[in-house]
Amino acid sequence: MQTELVTIHEEEPEKEWIQKAANLIREGQLVALPTETVYGLGANALDPEACKKIFQVKGRPQDNPLIVHISNLNMVEKLVEEWTDQSALCAEKFWPGPLTLVLNKNNLVPDVVSGGLRTVALRMPKHPVALQVIQEAGVPIAAPSANLSGKPSPTKGTHVWRDLKGKIPLILDAGPSSVGLESTVLDLTGKTPTILRPGGVTKEELEKVLGTVEIDSLRKGQAPKSPGMKYRHYAPQGKLTLLLGEQEKVIAKIQEEIELAHAKEKRIGVLCSKESAFYLQEKSPDFLFILGDKDNLEEVAGNLYEGLRLCDDQSVEIILAEGMDEGEMGLAIMNRLEKASEHRIIHL
Ligand code: TXA
Ligand code: MG
Repeated sequence: MQTELVTIHEEEPEKEWIQKAANLIREGQLVALPTETVYGLGANALDPEACKKIFQVKGRPQDNPLIVHISNLNMVEKLVEEWTDQSALCAEKFWPGPLTLVLNKNNLVPDVVSGGLRTVALRMPKHPVALQVIQEAGVPIAAPSANLSGKPSPTKGTHVWRDLKGKIPLILDAGPSSVGLESTVLDLTGKTPTILRPGGVTKEELEKVLGTVEIDSLRKGQAPKSPGMKYRHYAPQGKLTLLLGEQEKVIAKIQEEIELAHAKEKRIGVLCSKESAFYLQEKSPDFLFILGDKDNLEEVAGNLYEGLRLCDDQSVEIILAEGMDEGEMGLAIMNRLEKASEHRIIHL
């Protein structure tokens, strides 16, 4: 299949491309779309055959459900069993935005979308291109991140191109995603609102609106409520180790590991803060990626996936990543880094 990679204006998208994308969606085809979190691979959420293509193209396990994206609240009615006060409150405060709500589903939602669960995940993205394509198509759009399963999520059109060229007809490229990490997945079907995946809306922000919010812990032997959390994710080809602890000790460890790697003639990459990178000038790794300022976790979130993807391009065998504080956006950042490390974590 020929894939068209089209540059589209972020704020004032060209109508022609919106219509082309919407037509493809209505015809049961897939389109990669920019959202404020990461790029999504969209299909008509009410068309099971179209949604099946998403799983084929990504190589995604069948039991991992998709997020359904909407452009206005009228679309909610067909998708959920009940639109609760709590959902309405969340929508009012955080939509459009990087928050996904898990609610009991309406029977119109195909099983392929919900991965056989009785719930559906909904989100109204805060990106003019995504919103206009949904609106123009006139149907909700199911969209996982537009990467091959197991790769970091795409935050640029070119990331999608690398993963999916030849497999889908159209990629709309509106430049880098502003948030850079996926949405927060919040389960509202239980007694207490529960974060299934930390993301663009923080626990602190949710608690201001909802009161107590829990975080789903993934205990061994217990099925995670969010099926996607159990799969190997966001992992670069090189072996990533996450370094936690005082900055001085982290820097010393990185320097030591660079020496060791070079003695063994192995290529080593480092993902770290601007502050720590300063100390790696003399003894530098084969690939150094600055995630951002330690105090600016939005910046770090925005750069993380690009850094992980570049590690692959640079063919580094060993990757060291500096841990960040876990408050606010740090929780989502550390969740992704822990997964990328497959739990190789050193506490210094
Ligand atoms: O920011 C985002 O959420 C991006 C953009 C494109 O919107 N989408 C995204 O989709 O990250 P995906 O498929 O890569 O991740 C969706 C996550 C998975 O962990 C999945 O298991 C979970 O949401 N999920 C979807 N439906 C669910 C449901 N009914 N119950 C629990 N978890 C669900
Ligand atoms: Mg994903």
